[in-house]
Amino acid sequence: MSVLITGIGELTTNDDELGTLPDAAVVLDEDRVVWVGPADRAPDADERVDVGGRAVLPGWVDSHTHLVFAGDRTAEFAARMAGQPYQAGGIAVTVAATRAASDADLAAGLRRHVAEAVAQGTTCFETKTGYGLTVTDEVRSARIAAQEVEEVTFLGAHLVPQGWDADEYVRLVCGEMLDAVAPHVGWVDVFCESGAFDEDQSRAVLAAAKARGLGLRVHGNQLGPGPGVPLAVEMGAASVDHCTYLEGHDIDALAASQTVATLLPACDLSTRQPLPNARELLDAGATVALASNCNPGSSYTSSMAFCVATAVLQMRMSVEEAVRAATWGGARALRRESGDGAVGVLRPGARADVHVLDAPSAAWLAYRPGVPLTHAVWRKGVRVR
Ligand code: NIG
Repeated sequence: MSVLITGIGELTTNDDELGTLPDAAVVLDEDRVVWVGPADRAPDADERVDVGGRAVLPGWVDSHTHLVFAGDRTAEFAARMAGQPYQAGGIAVTVAATRAASDADLAAGLRRHVAEAVAQGTTCFETKTGYGLTVTDEVRSARIAAQEVEEVTFLGAHLVPQGWDADEYVRLVCGEMLDAVAPHVGWVDVFCESGAFDEDQSRAVLAAAKARGLGLRVHGNQLGPGPGVPLAVEMGAASVDHCTYLEGHDIDALAASQTVATLLPACDLSTRQPLPNARELLDAGATVALASNCNPGSSYTSSMAFCVATAVLQMRMSVEEAVRAATWGGARALRRESGDGAVGVLRPGARADVHVLDAPSAAWLAYRPGVPLTHAVWRKGVRVR
């Protein structure tokens, strides 16, 4: 069944040749984009949807979330807004609640958050384990995540659980835990930060993952400067996420590498950290992604539009840069930006993930911040809104 989406006032394709088109149309056939071009040259299709001059983008690609969790940390948030600093120690609260939850409750929570994000235009998700921190609970989190989300990351190295020596825990993560979780995940992540895992421990986790053929990601430079960025680049990680506290050498290393700098501005706002220096990263030639970091502690939002608006209004990114970072950039961070079924782009052969804004141009995402602007969404060719 094919669908012609026509009457597009402004079409962002993220394709180098197609660029951004006025008066455009897109044809979807099953789960693929099969045609993109000027509306007056569009081929026929089984169904025709006229979007009345609205702007159209690829669906958001949210490349950093933590959606397998139970419990609530409103009190921690309130204390933070009253002046307490964010301490990653709050992760332990979610770990306790997650371990106590049933499979059904964890799966239902995950589905609820995915549905909430899809309704706002997110069509491709990454999500992490990391609130289990035992072999059984990490496998359970990964298994539940894989039922709902296409890119699953093992984050056993999120925090050293209570009662464990850090090095002993790292040995567990690198051995028995990784062996048990690996069949369910494509990626491994480590929280490389003072108070979590140091450089050597983080390197050990990444090396163990690499030896098993898994892709690498790093949480780095979230709470202060540190070794996260150079380590991610050295190990060939697909992305280093947060990048709130970068020094000149970090920016140079990212610019010279294939590692994406994934910025999480909603998290920086919610934890009252400074916003990352997107401008310097972009000017240096680094690849930047924007993601929600949706989790119950440091960033409880699924809104990619909020991240885009913040990036434009507060981080000196242009609308084009921010939209690209939240679509193509996220896809690049997941190594999904090219080839058959690519996400974050609209070109023939890409996955049929389309986001229609109730706006004449993508600029409205920043011009009308906080206003729900999602008009329609196709995910894998199915209209889901
Ligand atoms: O990306 N930095 C570590 N992990 C999460 C926080 C999780 C939490 O506080 O529950 C993050 O911000």
